[in-house]
Formats: sequence, C-alpha cells, structure tokens
Amino acid sequence: MSGAKALWGGRFEGGMDPAMVPLNLSLDVDLRLWPQDIRGSRAWAGALGRAGVLELDEVQVLQDGLDAVASRLATGLAGPVPDEDIHSLVERLLREEVGAVAGKLHTGRSRNDQVATDVRLWGMEALEAVAAQLEGLARALVELAERSVDLIIPGYTHLQQGQPVRAAHWALSHLWPLLRDRDRMVGAGEGAAVLPLGSGALAGCPFPVDREFLRETLGFARVSENSMDAVSDRDWMAEALFAGSLVGIHLSRLGEDLVLFASREFGLVRVPDGFSTGSSLMPQKRNPDVGELIRGKSGRFTGNLVSLLTLLKGLPTGYNRDLQEDKRLLFDTFDQLALVLPAVTGTVEGLQWRPDRAGELLSEELLATDLADYLVRRGVPFRESHEAIGRLVALSERESVPLSRLSLDRYREIHPSFDADLREVFRWESSVESRATPGGTSRASVEVQIAEARRRLGAIST
Ligand code: ARG
Repeated sequence: MSGAKALWGGRFEGGMDPAMVPLNLSLDVDLRLWPQDIRGSRAWAGALGRAGVLELDEVQVLQDGLDAVASRLATGLAGPVPDEDIHSLVERLLREEVGAVAGKLHTGRSRNDQVATDVRLWGMEALEAVAAQLEGLARALVELAERSVDLIIPGYTHLQQGQPVRAAHWALSHLWPLLRDRDRMVGAGEGAAVLPLGSGALAGCPFPVDREFLRETLGFARVSENSMDAVSDRDWMAEALFAGSLVGIHLSRLGEDLVLFASREFGLVRVPDGFSTGSSLMPQKRNPDVGELIRGKSGRFTGNLVSLLTLLKGLPTGYNRDLQEDKRLLFDTFDQLALVLPAVTGTVEGLQWRPDRAGELLSEELLATDLADYLVRRGVPFRESHEAIGRLVALSERESVPLSRLSLDRYREIHPSFDADLREVFRWESSVESRATPGGTSRASVEVQIAEARRRLGAIST
C-alpha cells in the first residue's frame, strides 16, 4: 500500500506489513471492473444528490470527474499503481480530478455493496454475451444438421455400433444440450439482476437513497430484500459457473466425437484446416486440436465451480474477505468460454462429412434390432425374436457370411416366421425411416427437430 492512502487508514498506526501487501491486493484481478465501478459510482452520486446528501453541483462535479477517470482508465494504466483494488484506484483518481469533494462519494456506501454491484453488472453482460455465442453455435449445428439429413452413419452405445442414424440426428443431439445451456445462462443472468447497492457494509444505508432509482439507472431487474444477504450472496455466480461447467462438459463430448470421427479408424469427418494443427516432427499429421483443446478446458470450468462452492461454504453471515477470490473464478470461466465458443462454431461451420467412409463403416449388424422387429411385426414376442436374432448373428459370425447373404432357408431354420420380404430390412433407409416417433431419426422426425430448433433460435434471435 506504500504510496497510496488506504480507504480505511484512520485507526491504524504504521503501515501494512510488507508480507500482507501482496496478499491484500486484488487490483490485478478486479481492474477490469472499472467500467462497472464508474457506472455504479455515477449512479450512487446521483442517488446521494436526490437524497439531499450532496448538493446538485457536487453531484455534477463528481460525475464529470468520474467520466474523466473513465477516459484515463480506458487508455490503460501507464505503470504500476499502489492501490489495493479497483474501488480504491477509482477514488484516488477521482480525487486527482476533482479534489476533496471526491471524499463525499463513498457516503453511505461500502466496498461490500459496491463490489457486489460491480461484479453483478459485469456478470449480467458476460452471461448475455455467452448466451449469444451459444446461439451462434446452435445455429451452426442446425445448419450442419440441414446438410446431413441424407447421410446415414452408425449410431453408437458403449462406443460400439448400435443402430443406424441420420448424421443430422447426431448433429442435433449436440444442439439440444447447448440450447439448454443457453437457457441456464439466461436464468443465471436473471439471478444476477438483483441490485445490492444501498446495502452499505451490512445493515443498510442511513441516508434516504432511492434504491428504485439506482435499480432503474443501473439496469437491474429487482432490488435485494436483505442487506446482510445482499453483500454476500453469490448464488447467481454459482449458477453461472455451473452453467459454464455444463457448457464445458457438453463441448468436451462434442470435442471427443470430433476427435474420434476425424481419426483414420473412423474417418467420418474432416475437421477444417483452420482448426487443425500439424506436428513439428511428423510431417503427415493433421491433428483435430480444436476438439482436444475444448475437451481440456472442461475440467477447468468444473474446477472453478467447485472452488466457488468451497469458498462459500461455512462463511459467517455478511461480507467476508474470502469473497475476494470469487472474481478470478468468474472471469476465468467466462474468458475461456469466450475463447472456446467461436472456435467450436467455426469448426462446426466448416465440418465435412466423408460419405464414402460412412458407407464403409456401416456394419450389417446395425440392423439386428430391425430383424428382431421384423419378427415382432409377425407376432413373435420380442424376447423370442431377440434370442433368435442373437443366434442368427452368431451363425453369421461363425460361418463368416454377412447377415444379408444368409439364405432364406438358414433364416427359417432359426425362426419359421421369416419370409422373402426380410430382404427389405437390409435397406439403411428403411431402418432410419422406421424410427418415426417424435425425437426419432426418421426424415420427418429430424425435420420436425430442425424446425423446432429454428423456431427457438428465431424466437431468441437478437
Ligand atoms: N477487493 C474486495 C473484494 O473483492 C472489495 C471489497 C473489500 N471490502 C472490505 N471490507 N475489505 O471483495
């Protein structure tokens, strides 16, 4: 703190111990809150004027001074500054601009309600921005789905081929989680939009400030109900970090699919060049790094959530200095999301299917369920048909003859209900078209999904 006067020095003798100084600092993390701190302070000056605590010309001087401070901060700090946090810095610069009247700004306010207000203002913007980025990615997935309706690929469970699906159905399976994430971000934004300013340090403000005026001026939706709760409530932040963790988890699953699908073994997709990298040693390499990077980020998002929850647990009522750690976690998650989402969106936009490989990968065994269903349609109980097809698959394996090449007689040996029309089963289109329930992989069902996704994206487009 050497060089700057702390905002709280009156009752202290001697300076802060040098070992305490760096521990106490948060400016490196909270400097970026300066626009929010200025906005909050301008509004606070206005509220103090309306409450009769400041003369109207003092309000004007303070607000003009804050504008001047904002211009200075917008160009960046020239060198190291001695202030402990953004609130101290803004107040010191304000004093440089307007002199002693700067000392009136903090009347009735505490850094406790101030920082809670600043960080909510920051969060409201960040949540809106990430929701818009999620919409962009969702749009790219809808477009990918639209150009993938005709392609049939293996669908997997346990990473083993299960049943055929339209590639569009796979693309949409990654879209819906992201639309839910988008709604969670909006929900966290609503949680953030509660104004703490006017709560003071913990007990409220002794001057008759109009909190409704502050709410309106700063763009909050509601005013906090309890000042002790307001200075320490970080629930919205936990929700935001949870929503961020889920985005990370969903993207890591998409990333994993891309990494797998781009491998020679699958070869189903080509990740665009712009999102791939080569190897410094192996000239032939073309690595789907974008998938790996997003998979790697996801642990970090979850780490930030767990850190915040652990930080909050067991805090005594009211503000506690532990809370200074919250911002680093919030900023990290939202900075990383802002980095990751455009790259994933670009990857999805440029993703190419390799239909030839899809054809090679489709194994006839993917139709085993369809063969069982064929018998069911002829009145055979499913358990019995499941057992029969199991024996058929074993026979085909034993004799190294594909299911479609086994003679009708062999089929009849397995079950007498088989007939010549069983050949119909061996059309990939029939298989996917049979799953025509809502949410299924038939063309009509997939088109309904696409239309619904478009409707939701249209309804929320800005
Ligand atoms: N830098 C602090 C934080 O981030 C600001 C609030 C400090 N309040 C206090 N009473 N020391 O939480």
